[in-house]
Amino acid sequence: MTMGWHMVMGFEPSLIGCYIWDQNHSFEMVRNSRECVINVPTVDLGTKVVGIGYSSGRDIDKFAEFRLTAVPGTHVGAPLIEECYASFECKLNDAKLIPTYSMFVFEVVKAHVAVSPKYPRTMHYRGDGVFMLSGTKFRRLFKPQNL
Ligand SMILES: Cc1cc2nc3c(=O)[nH]c(=O)nc-3n(C[C@H](O)[C@H](O)[C@H](O)COP(=O)(O)O)c2cc1C
Repeated sequence: MTMGWHMVMGFEPSLIGCYIWDQNHSFEMVRNSRECVINVPTVDLGTKVVGIGYSSGRDIDKFAEFRLTAVPGTHVGAPLIEECYASFECKLNDAKLIPTYSMFVFEVVKAHVAVSPKYPRTMHYRGDGVFMLSGTKFRRLFKPQNL
């Protein structure tokens, strides 16, 4: 599934909070297996990102439909998407917020990140059919210890 609602919730361990609507096919799959892979696409995959967000794994095999390559994970049963810039293998760390907020708190147990480019053009959903592309750098304003 395509997911726009997510946030970092901790560094050590590395935690990511994700909103997964309870009507999504992914909801029960992730809740039952207690694991997932979060794949980070670049803008060249934009059409597939939207298509994946408008179709359900209940009806189609999205890897076949969108011509994406499933790669086995090393720490979880869910596959990685080879075409994505980064893939984070995750295990469910905290299920308490699922019944009230559909909020899954995952721990990243293995990160796979391409070595180049250093600053990929990743897409971030703003809502209303509009994405932001990464690229604007404010790095020089940061203290070294905060990078
Ligand atoms: C740009 C975009 C962002 C989305 N963000 C989320 C999200 O954060 N959480 C969510 O539950 N669904 C989100 N969706 C909707 C799911 O991707 C969609 O319901 C999908 O069909 C679920 O697939 P599944 O039934 O195979 O799990 C988003 C869809 C799009 C197009």
